[in-house]
Amino acid sequence: MAEAFAIPATTAVVTGAAGGIGRALAERLISEGAARVVVTDRDPDAVKAVAAELGERAHAMAFDVTDEDAVASAVETIEDTHGAIDLWCSNAGVARGRGLGDDTDWDMSWRVHVLAHIYVARALFPRMAERGRGHLLVTASAAGLLTQLDTAPYSVTKHGAVALAEWLAIRHADEGINVSCLCPQGVNTPMTAGDDGTSATRLGGAYIEPEDVAESVVAALHTGRFLILPHPEAADYELRRVTDRDRWISGMRRALAKIRGAAAQRS
Ligand SMILES: NC(=O)c1ccc[n+]([C@@H]2O[C@H](COP(=O)([O-])OP(=O)(O)OC[C@H]3O[C@@H](n4cnc5c(N)ncnc54)[C@H](O)[C@@H]3O)[C@@H](O)[C@H]2O)c1
Repeated sequence: MAEAFAIPATTAVVTGAAGGIGRALAERLISEGAARVVVTDRDPDAVKAVAAELGERAHAMAFDVTDEDAVASAVETIEDTHGAIDLWCSNAGVARGRGLGDDTDWDMSWRVHVLAHIYVARALFPRMAERGRGHLLVTASAAGLLTQLDTAPYSVTKHGAVALAEWLAIRHADEGINVSCLCPQGVNTPMTAGDDGTSATRLGGAYIEPEDVAESVVAALHTGRFLILPHPEAADYELRRVTDRDRWISGMRRALAKIRGAAAQRS
C-alpha cells in the first residue's frame, strides 16, 4: 500500500477535465478541500467554462498532453503561479479505432494513453522527488486489465498505461512519490455517449456516473491503494483472466458472438 494522500489544502491538476471523469474529479477535489485545482484540456474555452462553474479555487489552463514541451511548460507555469503540485491526475483519453484501427488511431492512442504520462513524470517527478512528496493518478481503464473487444488501439494502449503506472509506482516510491491507477469499466461521459447495445463495454455491465468514479478515487487516495476499481467486479474478471488465459479467451469469444448477434439484430 502506498502512502495515503490528504486532499485538503493541496494543489491538484486534472487533465482531460473539460467534461466527464476529469470534470467530476476536479469538482470532487474542490469539495474535499483542495486549495487549488487546475482544470486542463485542449480547448481553452471549454476549460475556462468548467473553471468558472467550479468556482474560485478552480483555474483553467489549455494544453495538449501529447506535446512534451507544452506539458513541461504547464508544470513550470503552474508551480510558479500556484506553488508545488501535490497531485497530478493524468486523465485525458481518446476512444479511437474500431477493430484493429489504422496507424493514426494507434499513434494517437499511444501518445495520449502512454507517452502523456511519461511526459508528466519527466517534468514533475524531479520536482516532487526534491520535495520528497507527490502523487500521480493515472486514468487507465478496465480495458487495460481485461480485453476491450471493440478496439485494439484502446485496449492495448490502456494495458500500457497500467504497466507504466505499476512501473512508476515501484521505481519512484523511495523518492516519496506515490502513483495510483484508475481502471473503471463503463462510465456515462461524452466518450461513451454513442455506445449502444452493440458496444462490448455496454454488454460488459452497468455504466456508472463520473461522480461515482470520483468517489472511488477519493476513497482510494485516503487509503493509499494503487489500483482503483470503481466497478469492483473488475477485480474478479482480472483474476479469471490471469488464472486461466485459455478459458478467458473462450469466454471472450462467446461475448464477441453475442455482440455480433446484437449488431446483426439492429441492422
Ligand atoms: N467513459 C468510460 O467508460 C471510461 C472507462 C474507462 C476509462 N476511461 C478513461 O477515463 C478518462 C476520461 O474519459 P471520459 O470518459 O471522461 O471521456 P471524455 O471524452 O469526456 O474526456 C476525455 C478528455 O480528454 C481530453 N483529451 C483528449 N486528448 C487530449 C490531449 N491530447 N490533450 C489534452 N486533453 C485531451 C478530451 O478533450 C476530453 O475532454 C480517459 O482516459 C478514458 O480513456 C473512460
